[in-house]
Amino acid sequence: MNFTQEIARRRTFGIISHPDAGKTTLTEKLLLFGGAIQEAGAVKSNKIKKGATSDFMEIERQRGISVATSVLAFEYEGTKINILDTPGHKDFAEDTFRTLTAVDSVIVVIDVAKGVEEQTEKLVEVCRMRNIPMIVFINKLDREGKDAFDLLDEVEQKLNLRVTPLSFPIGMGYDFKGIYNLWEKNVNLFSGDSRKNIEETIEISDLSNKSLDELIGTETADQLRENIELVQGIYPEFNQQEYLDGTLQPVFFGSALNNFGVRELLDCFVKIAPTPRPKQSAERVIQPDEKDFSGFVFKIHANMDPKHRDRLAFIKIVSGKFERNVPYLHVRHDKKLKFSSPNAFFAEKKQIVDTSYPGDIVGLHDTGNFKIGDTLTQGEAIHFKGIPSFSPEHFRYINNADPMKSKQLNKGIDQLMDEGVAQLFTLELNGRKVIGTVGALQYEVIQYRLEHEYGAKCTYENLNVHKACWIEPENPKSEEFKDFKRVKNKFLAKDKKGQLVFLADSPFTLQMTQQKYPSIKFHLTSEYK
Ligand code: G4P
Repeated sequence: MNFTQEIARRRTFGIISHPDAGKTTLTEKLLLFGGAIQEAGAVKSNKIKKGATSDFMEIERQRGISVATSVLAFEYEGTKINILDTPGHKDFAEDTFRTLTAVDSVIVVIDVAKGVEEQTEKLVEVCRMRNIPMIVFINKLDREGKDAFDLLDEVEQKLNLRVTPLSFPIGMGYDFKGIYNLWEKNVNLFSGDSRKNIEETIEISDLSNKSLDELIGTETADQLRENIELVQGIYPEFNQQEYLDGTLQPVFFGSALNNFGVRELLDCFVKIAPTPRPKQSAERVIQPDEKDFSGFVFKIHANMDPKHRDRLAFIKIVSGKFERNVPYLHVRHDKKLKFSSPNAFFAEKKQIVDTSYPGDIVGLHDTGNFKIGDTLTQGEAIHFKGIPSFSPEHFRYINNADPMKSKQLNKGIDQLMDEGVAQLFTLELNGRKVIGTVGALQYEVIQYRLEHEYGAKCTYENLNVHKACWIEPENPKSEEFKDFKRVKNKFLAKDKKGQLVFLADSPFTLQMTQQKYPSIKFHLTSEYK
């Protein structure tokens, strides 16, 4: 197979959902179809179980699982599919945001009874802003849930999407009989036996055909005809280009647990989902079929073995071929590195790979060279965009609790921040260190890992900060900016890249400060240019 064909057969995507909607179950069924796993239950959930938030062993165990499920790759009918894991737990939302920079499309899973939930809203918003193509899968149709039309309305309104169903349920919950597939024009009947994986698919090219009445009864058949007529009247016709542009989202219905409606989803997915997409860098747009290799780090995972502090950096290949033992340019360090044992991922296994293609993820062993967002290339100095830091939600001072170990503490903090566990801000006034996180859980993780991996002890002190804003003055030499820096000195800090950040203690302060200094821009993300 040549280079172009290798690119054309790759689909790299993420499944996003609110916890419990069925992401793990759906992933597992997709892997079953690809023959990558043999039985249900093989994919471990990376969920942090309720009540486990202070149980460190549980957190460590989960970290182990999340390495194993970071990338799940499998082959399906000639297509190479890479599923990137996105933690659903809200305290790890930033991890998920970063992973979304490495996907070419997403599948959004929604629980038919719960409808659109909080985490789904946040994650879909990020995808919408980046025009990532999305397919919606409404799950758990074997249970009583909301009316299909009401749900479609809810998806449109709450998620601000423009949807078109490509399948439609026949009944629901107790009365769930199957789905009509508008994409393939057939009826798929539900056996109701949750242990059974075999489905019965009946081609119905014309809904007015009387054989439909025999299959599901006249009343249900008439209802289905009415519903499909309504669907076709209300919703736009599916258009692949609009889907790829992120302006139209096809919807499928099914039950992941019962393996129902999953094949339809997968078959459609491999046909319509995008091949590896071009990526914007600070310098230019990089096309996947360019000859020269380029890629970027979107995730770093510290190893589980505390004795060896090596880490695994996950690189998404944007262009060219990545080859083992070939020196590549680490752009930030301006030095060449070569990798003797790059890992590729296949189902839940890692294996050393000689060549990888755009769309693929390789895991590189790292002893501290990489940071999230780093670019690797064949030689060109390009910097990929799109991995911003967002303003954290929680802020605490971090103090050294063991003066003999300050070196270890600093090193530990440094490396954990490179991994993207949290963000470090250093106050301009006195050099004190502030750790900002998305969820309170991270503080415990940091404390635990500093102690167990670096032998350092820390304590925290509360700090009243509402948001961190990255500061962009219109003119850095203006009197206004000088005045701002003088007056707000106590609230100014530098992030890890040395960018200036204003720590606003309340929405009110932020608003007042913005009004007072109109020539300064206050950004809630670090990447605003
Ligand atoms: P998540 O990764 O999105 O958090 O969800 P996960 O797949 O773990 O599914 C959450 C729960 O919903 C699981 O039940 C799972 O069995 C169930 N589920 C998934 N798909 C369906 C479906 O189509 N129909 C029904 N009725 N249930 C579904 P659990 O009791 O929390 O876990 P388990 O003990 O069964 O594993």
